[in-house]
Parts: sequence; structure tokens; C-alpha cells
Amino acid sequence: MKKSSKGLGLYDNLDLSASQNDQELQEVYKKWASIYDHDNDDVLGTVSQPNSVQIFNKYITDKNQKIIDVGCGTGLVGLELKKLGYTNFDGIDISKEMIDIAIDRGYKSLLLGNLNNSLPIESNSYDAALCVGVFTHGHVGPSRLKELTRIIKSQGLVCFTVNEDVYKSYGFDEVIERLESENVWKILELTKHDYMTKKRVMGFYCIARVN
Ligand SMILES: C[S@@+](CC[C@H](N)C(=O)[O-])C[C@H]1O[C@@H](n2cnc3c(N)ncnc32)[C@H](O)[C@@H]1O
Repeated sequence: MKKSSKGLGLYDNLDLSASQNDQELQEVYKKWASIYDHDNDDVLGTVSQPNSVQIFNKYITDKNQKIIDVGCGTGLVGLELKKLGYTNFDGIDISKEMIDIAIDRGYKSLLLGNLNNSLPIESNSYDAALCVGVFTHGHVGPSRLKELTRIIKSQGLVCFTVNEDVYKSYGFDEVIERLESENVWKILELTKHDYMTKKRVMGFYCIARVN
């Protein structure tokens, strides 16, 4: 397929070395939303959504469980959940323009929220959370993993990806282990797989059970 020069320009102009603030990121995703899915497939070759849902699916027994997709973007994780028969999932994202595209992708409800702050969700609300593509350059750091556990019921699951480029440099390796030693969660699986195949970037995939 022909590559869109527009798409390539947007991704390659992202300053991946700098920390972006939430407003800057919202501007990036506002511009990116309409061509995000194209870039996901044809420019980046991103496979984190199907890979995450495959891992998640190994540990879930009831497909009607209440799930939240944090940083749902245009809903590519929702599409994968729907394919596998999941029926009860919501999405939340900082970008209204990304959420607008997710509307017909199977989510029961979609809301605006910022993982760098407290999410507008009560504690212990969901059986499981997915968070794919959010722990990456300039987006959200490891200190916010605990916020994901806050909204999950005891014995529920948290499944997330971390871009390999920021895994050690942002301290995800230490925080993931520390949350286990502090008895916040038990890690069920932590593995490294393909993430953005056309950029030759790998990602860490983690699923943990909240205590
Ligand atoms: C690389 S995209 C991944 C989207 C989707 N999960 C996927 O896998 O296709 C990152 C998403 O995280 C969202 N995001 C970035 N910072 C966020 C924050 N602080 N809180 C919530 N969402 C955020 C962006 O708006 C964007 O939709």
C-alpha cells in the first residue's frame, strides 16, 4: 500500500527525546487522530493491541467482566476485544479527537480523563484494565501504574505495555518490581515482544493481578 507522506511527517516530527506536557500531547493527538489508524498499520506496523489482548485473554475466564481501556485512543484495543467476544468494556483517554473515532468500536462508554492526574473513576470499579501504548516517550511515567491499580477490584487484572526505549530510562523496571514487593500486585507475566515492527521497536508486555 502507498504510504501517506502526511502520516510519516507527523510521526517523525514527534520529539521522542523530550518530555511532553499533557497539553502538547493533546495537540499532537488532535492532529494525529484522523490518520492514526493508517499510521499504526502502514507507517509504524504497531502490533501492541492484538499482542496485549492475546496475553490478557489467557488470564480472563469471564468475557462479560467489566474492563477499562485506559488511553484507548481510536479504539484499536476495543476492536481486538470485540473480535474475541468481550462485551463489557469502557474507554478513557486524554484526547477528545481520538475518542471520537473510538465511538463505534464496541465501547459501552467513553470518557475523557488524564492518567497523569486522578482518573475520574471511583476506586475498585473495574475487574480489569488494559493500557496499551501509553507508557512511552513523554506520555505517562511509572509512578502512575499505581493509579491503574486503584480503579481495579482486588484480584482483578492490569495489563499494560511499555515501549522498550523508556523501560529502564524512566524506571519502569524498578517500579514494576517494587509494586510486587510492596504487595500491590503479583506479576503474572512480563515479556518482551514486537511492538512497532516497521520501526524495529520492541515493547514490554506485563499482566499483573491486583492484591
Ligand atoms: C500511542 S496512543 C495508543 C492508543 C491505543 N491504546 C492504541 O493502542 O492504539 C497513546 C494514547 O494515550 C493517550 N494519552 C496520552 N497521555 C495520556 C494521559 N496522560 N492520560 C490518558 N490518556 C493519555 C493519547 O491521547 C493516545 O490516545
